[in-house]
Amino acid sequence: MTLGEGSTPLLRAGRLSAGPGVEVWLKCEGANPTGSFKDRGMALAVAKAVEAGARAIVCASTGNTAASAAAYAARAGIEAVVVHAAGGPASSKLAQVRAAGARLVEVDGSFDDAFAAAEELAEREGAVVVNSTNPDRIEGQKTAALEIIEQLGGPPDVLALPYGGGGNTVAYAKGFLEAGFPTLEIVPVQAADRTTTSASAIRIPTPVHRAEVDDAVARRGGTVVSVTDDEIAVAWRSLARQEGIFCEPASAAALAGIDLAGFAEGTRVVFVLTGHGLKDPDALDRLPEVGR
Ligand code: F0G
Repeated sequence: MTLGEGSTPLLRAGRLSAGPGVEVWLKCEGANPTGSFKDRGMALAVAKAVEAGARAIVCASTGNTAASAAAYAARAGIEAVVVHAAGGPASSKLAQVRAAGARLVEVDGSFDDAFAAAEELAEREGAVVVNSTNPDRIEGQKTAALEIIEQLGGPPDVLALPYGGGGNTVAYAKGFLEAGFPTLEIVPVQAADRTTTSASAIRIPTPVHRAEVDDAVARRGGTVVSVTDDEIAVAWRSLARQEGIFCEPASAAALAGIDLAGFAEGTRVVFVLTGHGLKDPDALDRLPEVGR
């Protein structure tokens, strides 16, 4: 069961690196089949659900999990139900869901409310939940950590990524741990205002994996970083204008959260760009015109 997920480009960011003498690499997860990193875990979660005899999968989503679940369910010939907060997901992501024929359920509330509704619905209908609380999602997503080690010929010094629910942080921590790098520094970057951020993919009031993320970060002597929408907008525009990489705003949070000048010369930093820019084209007009 595959749509060709994984094996995404790891690109050297020469112009971003130029200043501080730090080696910057970008893991371009928008190159996955539905345009986000979710496909790595969804391929496995849906395959396992089918193996267990499931006829349907359910998820709550800010949009990308939804697009991925809908595509892989279609591929497997089973039903997908997507629960989302009204006005939450970017319209392109809902278009992906509708094109694949999945059922959309809108909840008047936040992502947290959508998640509670999805769990209830799955219980009632005997469907498999494919949010990151499903361990198969984490197993699939950890492959990105192994790929980066392969592509670099060794581990990076620091890996930074956006932090919504925290499933991806947990997956990278597991991947690096199992590859023999238990202390590799991981920096999860969240929106300073989780409830209202313009980066709709990470508009999640309460991260379901918070305890595991705090634990993974503490064990590595790091910290969770918070960024404002203005800081995200600056990083997002600089990725497109300095490196030619159009990602969605949430993906740029990682870059926004790291002060490259603070690292010693030669430090290797990987930023995980989680989703493609075409996922959220309205961001161009929505995000503040700051930075260059
Ligand atoms: N970046 C993008 C583009 C996302 O879509 C998400 C999460 C994250 C980062 C954060 O990852 O939740 O594992 O910490 N999107 C989920 C969704 C919530 O429903 O598509 P996380």
